[in-house]
Amino acid sequence: MSENLYISVSASKSEKYETILPQIEALISGEPDLYANLANISAALKEAFGFFWVGFYLVKGDQLVLGPFQGPIACTRINPGKGVCGTAWVEKKTQLVPDVEVFPGHIACSAASKSEVVVPVFKGGEVVMVLDVDSDQLDDFDSVDQEYLEKLMGMLESTF
Ligand code: SME
Repeated sequence: MSENLYISVSASKSEKYETILPQIEALISGEPDLYANLANISAALKEAFGFFWVGFYLVKGDQLVLGPFQGPIACTRINPGKGVCGTAWVEKKTQLVPDVEVFPGHIACSAASKSEVVVPVFKGGEVVMVLDVDSDQLDDFDSVDQEYLEKLMGMLESTF
């Protein structure tokens, strides 16, 4: 697999996802190391969409702990049910947040973050990590992001 990502700058959001998902799949399917794959997924999403922050929090004991990411430094530990990530973990479902200011208990790692989508990753029916994507624009994520990011996390699940 080549280590270049091909993205059309003029493509629509769904076309970009359609273009990069198979490339990410090819990138991670030949690599058994989870952290290497999480790092490359974060980098690919950042490169394709220019997200403000994109990365993973992994379930370790009774907390989520910061994993590979792209963007400004972030909080390292999140308790169950806390913030958007902790809510996605305990509710076992994607959280689409158009305005973080009105999400109860949102954890502001950065004041620049305005909207957010968090997708849980499952193993054996349990959440083992979450993908967190933040934007510095309000209402920057929709059902297209949700659909493709859930699909991407489904691909990831089959690699570990
Ligand atoms: N805002 C998240 C915390 C993680 S940072 O945004 C990177 C939350 O409320 O869970």
